[in-house]
Amino acid sequence: MSSPSSQQPPQPVLRLKNLTRVHGSGATEVHALRGIDLAVFPGELVAVMGPSGSGKSTLLTIAGGLDSPTSGQVIVENTDITAADRKTLAALRRRSIGYVFQDYNLIPALTAAENVALPRELDGTSARKARREAIAALEEMDLGHLADRFPDEMSGGQQQRVAIARALVGDRRLVLADEPTGALDSETGESVLALLRARCDAGAAGVLVTHEPRFAAWADRVVFLRDGAVVDQTLRSDADSLLTGQAAER
Ligand SMILES: Nc1ncnc2c1ncn2[C@@H]1O[C@H](COP(=O)(O)OP(=O)(O)OP(=O)(O)O)[C@@H](O)[C@H]1O
Ligand SMILES: [Mg+2]
Repeated sequence: MSSPSSQQPPQPVLRLKNLTRVHGSGATEVHALRGIDLAVFPGELVAVMGPSGSGKSTLLTIAGGLDSPTSGQVIVENTDITAADRKTLAALRRRSIGYVFQDYNLIPALTAAENVALPRELDGTSARKARREAIAALEEMDLGHLADRFPDEMSGGQQQRVAIARALVGDRRLVLADEPTGALDSETGESVLALLRARCDAGAAGVLVTHEPRFAAWADRVVFLRDGAVVDQTLRSDADSLLTGQAAER
């Protein structure tokens, strides 16, 4: 066993440094993010809450390398993705980052299993192994029996669970989920959160955007955004009281 003194302090999987994002210019300029600092460590699940338009999706797409900040840095596993070339960024997105979109984004011409296997195949995993992993990920979502269906042959909730399987397949270290429970009934929503929680307990870092206090309660920390800035943060121990307070306001 190594002595504590020889252990490195844990490095965050995701680090956002003084992040800003301005959409548009001139009269239509929108300051979607105004100086966000955030670090998410291995094993941690962070919930992001805030009113509609407060910048939650903007924060998540930039953290996942799908959009670029106006200024500031995004560091994923020691790589500054704002400075990375396209190839490095694409490889990082396939290997390290799992992303669940607000509106699923499945490829209509591919079956559920093919959708889930795609990022693995793009990354050089053999088709057979990628399919095996995809089926396992679908089974985790109780969707093994729908592996060969196309998205338009599934309900909204089933499609959302396929999208979640696609984000969790392989060994992604950073899982970003934008309202992943939106199309799910509350029981299925809870089971999706349990899976996300389990993935974080196994060492991944997770960021979950949600409007629902009961889903945010699965997180270690809740970050509240308003007008593109962090206005409050909780520790897990305070989360329940804060969330109860918030829920009571609704
Ligand atoms: N492509 C864009 N062009 C111009 N403005 C944008 C664009 N995307 C987002 N915005 C603006 O940036 C702000 C933040 O939007 P964002 O989508 O991040 O909010 P959100 O917190 O995810 O909201 P919701 O809860 O409704 O999903 C909003 O004022 C929005 O109108
Ligand atoms: Mg959004």
